[in-house]
Amino acid sequence: MFWQRKMEIPGLKKILSYETIDSTNNQAKLLAQDGYPEGTLVIAEEQTKGRGRKGRSWISLPGKSLTFSLLLRPPQNTSLALLCALSCAWALEEKGFYVLLRWPNDILLGDKKVGGILVESSFSGDDLLYVIMGVGINVNETEEDFPPSLRERATSLFLASSCQWQRGEILKSFLSFFFPAYFAWKEKGDFSPWVKDYEKRSSLLGKEVVVRWGKETVQGIARGIKEDGSLVLENCGGETLISWGEATLHEDQK
Ligand code: BTN
Repeated sequence: MFWQRKMEIPGLKKILSYETIDSTNNQAKLLAQDGYPEGTLVIAEEQTKGRGRKGRSWISLPGKSLTFSLLLRPPQNTSLALLCALSCAWALEEKGFYVLLRWPNDILLGDKKVGGILVESSFSGDDLLYVIMGVGINVNETEEDFPPSLRERATSLFLASSCQWQRGEILKSFLSFFFPAYFAWKEKGDFSPWVKDYEKRSSLLGKEVVVRWGKETVQGIARGIKEDGSLVLENCGGETLISWGEATLHEDQK
């Protein structure tokens, strides 16, 4: 087991750990429906059906990947994914990495992805019941651990530093940064205190980007992040605010 059974982190209520599970997000959802409290953490060594954004799969390897989900019960979920991404950045920076964030919630080392976040929310009518915040960080993976199709775009802490990392230490650091920020975010009600912190790590700012959601695409120069977490694109002589989607650099900028 790579994590400590007991971690004294304010906000962390319960830890459920599994050797193998389909997806920590799926398991956290079941626990949420069973009434488990905010601050329940689900960790797994290995996922058999790990899920990424946009229906993609997410690979978690035993002994190598850091894979967990947090059950939260906030009053609203806008910008929570960005706060999670920023907390990942703080945790990795504490270990000496130079981290970039690709809006909304990809964690990059250089131009390669080292971690991703899948936030899933459950509503009853307009009422937000709970949020599952799933985090996957590539820690000790080697080049061969990634499928050939991903090798150009994915990295791990090991590949970026030639050092083996303790996943438990990274997890603890993340939780220690995340919970205080989360409580402050709930109180504040928006992302405004963290906008500058996020923007200075943005891999997109000042660059021509394409944002895709469903069949829609929009293009423009990324100019900033708003207090609700949306991305400001300069285009067509004005500004467009993008609330969700996947942003990539325009071909000419790569
Ligand atoms: C992405 O970048 O596409 C998001 C990846 C999120 C992966 C994590 S791993 C823990 C949690 N359980 C899942 O099935 N997915 C998330």
